[in-house]
Amino acid sequence: MTRAVVIGATGQIGRAAVGALARDGWEVTALSRGGDRDAGWPGDVRVVRADREDDAALSAAVGEGCDVLVDTVAFGAGHARQLVSLAGRVGSAVVISTLSVYEDDWGRSFDTQTEPDGFPHYPVPLTEAQRTVRPGDASYSAGKVALEQELLAAGDRLPATLLRAGAVHGPYGRTPRELYFVKRNLDGRRRRVLAYGGASRFHPAGVHNIAELVRLAAARPGSR
Ligand SMILES: NC(=O)c1ccc[n+]([C@@H]2O[C@H](COP(=O)([O-])OP(=O)(O)OC[C@H]3O[C@@H](n4cnc5c(N)ncnc54)[C@H](OP(=O)(O)O)[C@@H]3O)[C@@H](O)[C@H]2O)c1
Repeated sequence: MTRAVVIGATGQIGRAAVGALARDGWEVTALSRGGDRDAGWPGDVRVVRADREDDAALSAAVGEGCDVLVDTVAFGAGHARQLVSLAGRVGSAVVISTLSVYEDDWGRSFDTQTEPDGFPHYPVPLTEAQRTVRPGDASYSAGKVALEQELLAAGDRLPATLLRAGAVHGPYGRTPRELYFVKRNLDGRRRRVLAYGGASRFHPAGVHNIAELVRLAAARPGSR
């Protein structure tokens, strides 16, 4: 049996990730401020109520150690340093990032999309080799890049898998993107209205697919 700690366990990603790990035989500690339990989790999932901003509380949740620390709510270099500070007791990390880290070949990104000619034109397919915005704390995207770079710089001290999720959807989503389509359907409105005539490419990520990536990455630590 190997041990996993999941930060942000009761969010849409966390609920699925805890379930996937627990059903795979991991001994899971599920951490959130509310300390709730998902009805679908196996009974031996341990629930911890803690704020990850509290270093001592996070450290206590990790305890003597865990094989993998999954962080669904990490933002910025500060959280990366917090995770790296636990390196001696944590085998590896799996951390949720975002596809909004990317900028196009002209330096346009989600951060510039409201500027004149600022809408990014990403190549298709958009691969991990695509350049990213500069790290910093000026925006969500820049903070995620700072998080990624700080974690990857830790190298073997704390192997870290960054999962660059797209628009996330699934049960317990706080901003359910699919509601627009579901509601129209429930209302009996037969027309689906698609932005840009359906030609826009914005690839959402389902929580169960993300949870499966978490499970696979947890079993095969690496910096990537
Ligand atoms: N939503 C998207 O479309 C999207 C797209 C790309 C990337 N992402 C990334 O996905 C992640 C968000 O995941 P999600 O959608 O699963 O989030 P979510 O549904 O909002 O859930 C957040 C979870 O974290 C817990 N939490 C929040 N602050 C905490 C803290 N200080 N200490 C401990 N637990 C805390 C919440 O529970 P409590 O409130 O009880 O603490 C909850 O369990 C972020 O890293 C975000 O950048 C999201």
